[in-house]
Amino acid sequence: MERNPVGKLLLFGATGDLAQRMLLPSLYGLHADGLLPEGLTITGSARSELDDKGFRKFAKEALDEFLPKDRSDEKAVGGFLDRLFYQSADLSDLKTFQPLADKVGDVSGGLAIFLSTAPSLFEPAVKGLKTVGLAGDTVRIGLEKPLGYDLASSREINDTVASVFPEDRIFRIDHYLGKETVQNILSLRFGNSFFEPVWNAQGIDNVQITIAETVGLEDRAGYYEGAGALRDMVANHMLQLLALIAMEPPARYDMTAVRDEKAKVFRSLRQMKPEDVPSLTVTGQYLGGAVNGAIVKSYDEELGKDSNVETFVAIKAHIDNWRWQGVPFYIRTGKRMAVRRSEIAIQFKPVPHSMFVGRGGLLQPNTLIIRLQPEEYIELLVMAKEPGLDRDGVRLREVPLKLSLDAEFAGTRRRIAYERLLLDLIEGDQTLFVRRDEVEAQWTWIDAIRAGWDANGTKPKHYPSGTWGPSTAIALTERDGVTWQDD
Ligand code: BG6
Repeated sequence: MERNPVGKLLLFGATGDLAQRMLLPSLYGLHADGLLPEGLTITGSARSELDDKGFRKFAKEALDEFLPKDRSDEKAVGGFLDRLFYQSADLSDLKTFQPLADKVGDVSGGLAIFLSTAPSLFEPAVKGLKTVGLAGDTVRIGLEKPLGYDLASSREINDTVASVFPEDRIFRIDHYLGKETVQNILSLRFGNSFFEPVWNAQGIDNVQITIAETVGLEDRAGYYEGAGALRDMVANHMLQLLALIAMEPPARYDMTAVRDEKAKVFRSLRQMKPEDVPSLTVTGQYLGGAVNGAIVKSYDEELGKDSNVETFVAIKAHIDNWRWQGVPFYIRTGKRMAVRRSEIAIQFKPVPHSMFVGRGGLLQPNTLIIRLQPEEYIELLVMAKEPGLDRDGVRLREVPLKLSLDAEFAGTRRRIAYERLLLDLIEGDQTLFVRRDEVEAQWTWIDAIRAGWDANGTKPKHYPSGTWGPSTAIALTERDGVTWQDD
């Protein structure tokens, strides 16, 4: 892939939470490893009134707090801070843009803009950038979620941005695609010959995708109340995982082939009719309870008022194409759950006939587990014979064939998702960014679910913090004779 690095980076939302926790530490990580283009400058921008010195101090404090200690190197930190500049801006005010353009200066060597702001500011931001010459051919723009809250609002944002930037210069971020283990799904599926022949409705009984979090609202009431788990996690991260598991093999590892195949999956998702939504989805909201030994409050208590926003959702989805006919994809995600875990479990079909029945041997269908976090491993549960002379019958046991990526690549540093994505943005590789047609197909499916909840007056069921969600989520799979892979 041809790299086309820019010489400047402009970071909106530079004093926000994401910048402190992720963006600044990621950019530092790239700098420390000599991966940022020589001379690349980073101009931070936000409403706060700071000067260059103030922003460097802010960045230094963020690195002190969020950088793993073994990564912090005084000389490298000094060199990184020298790249930083700052210009305060109020994106809703057109007058803000000229001083910004003056500060950024000449962009003929390329500029990458990272927009991490409220969606309501997207329109004034891109229009303002255009008026001051910060949207020309050498400029690309990265957009952080939320990119709308339904199809209509996402179209509006996409139209606005498209009126200024062409699609090949728009980089929509889904940070799950930056995760090493998520990209590993591609290596597993398309770098090995033995999965593909059984990777279909003949070989697979069901697929389960879980993103369980132990955190709660985390001071994000303003955003989360307008989102809920469906928009916050399913409409992007979970559907991206589903697409990587379900897509046809792309012909090449490039931005067109990979995104074409994902988009086809999204377009093949079976649209839910309002009357089917209650039996295909479950919503929940956490009550107080104990998580990791700590007593935590209910969602309503954290919020300070009663709310009907879902903090948990489980869905039975179908992909209507030849490969996946009849295979349910069970998806669930929730806050304040029993453990933090992101995982995909592929449940294979049982053997067509068991020769062990007459001798008492019981078989379990094989399961492939792809653990994305907190640990990184791939585990295939296979049947093995317990040692013995079998005089009282054959005893078979499910045993794990486990590949720990943590152990196998122990000497290799894992990069946080934003390191990869920021570098791809700087170098102009769109493969791991979400294309417009993907986003809109995702919202189309999500909107039908929301419409079903509205039509049926669905309210989230309460679940105690520190559990796996409402019991109806268990019923969602048990009805089909399927058990969630919980241990
Ligand atoms: C974000 C959501 O996109 O992803 C958060 O807005 C969520 O609610 C987070 O906590 C989870 O990301 P990760 O990388 O910690 O799994």
